Amino acid sequence: MEFIVAIDGPAGSGKGTITKKISTELGLVSIDTGATYRCVALNMLQENVGLDEEAKIKQILENINIDLKPDGKIFLNGEDVTNKIRTPEVSKFVSPVSALKIVRDKMVDIQRKMAEGKNAIMEGRDIGTVVFPNANVKIYLDATPEERANRRMKQMAEKGIKLDYQQVLQEIIERDTRDLNRAIAPLKKADDAIYVDSSNMTIDEVTNKIIQIIKFATRDVD
Ligand code: DC
Repeated sequence: MEFIVAIDGPAGSGKGTITKKISTELGLVSIDTGATYRCVALNMLQENVGLDEEAKIKQILENINIDLKPDGKIFLNGEDVTNKIRTPEVSKFVSPVSALKIVRDKMVDIQRKMAEGKNAIMEGRDIGTVVFPNANVKIYLDATPEERANRRMKQMAEKGIKLDYQQVLQEIIERDTRDLNRAIAPLKKADDAIYVDSSNMTIDEVTNKIIQIIKFATRDVD
């Protein structure tokens, strides 16, 4: 038996932070599905494989080994790529890579195997709609583009990097448009997902709200 919590939503909605917090508090395995797409994008960059080279992409997918460790480290074919998958180069390339059907088919398969037989919390864009349409709890976590831009500015400022607000906002809007309009598995709230707008909520408030929802869903299981 597995118990699956699906957290979907756009970039910057707080999914990553909140998923990790809830996984620690409730003892659920945390699965960051975006990291799996980032691993494919990095592998393609490492092997100099372009978006239209289907045979080479297929080969990469046949040999790929992605390991999400419990401590948050990410291994690609035995190499620790935890930081390498977060570079601007990978962040840019992963968007078109994640729109390819052969990539999505393989990643959905890998993601389902990662959760098999486990109690897991999975974050992504299509968990409640495609990966686990029968998930026990489905959350669609949202925030306004302006708030997500502010969060990104703050996050980078903490690392000593000052960004231009208008440019950050523009990038977020462009990424949303791509994710919402792509042909396969677009970012979409599942009909039975609970919508949570985190724009005016703290991380703890969102975490607690979702924990309440999960506890309510498990009341008959305990
Ligand atoms: O959440 P993230 O920024 O790490 O995701 C990286 C990319 O992968 C992003 O362009 C959206 C895509 N993605 C997806 O298409 N489906 C998922 N379930 C998770 C991420």
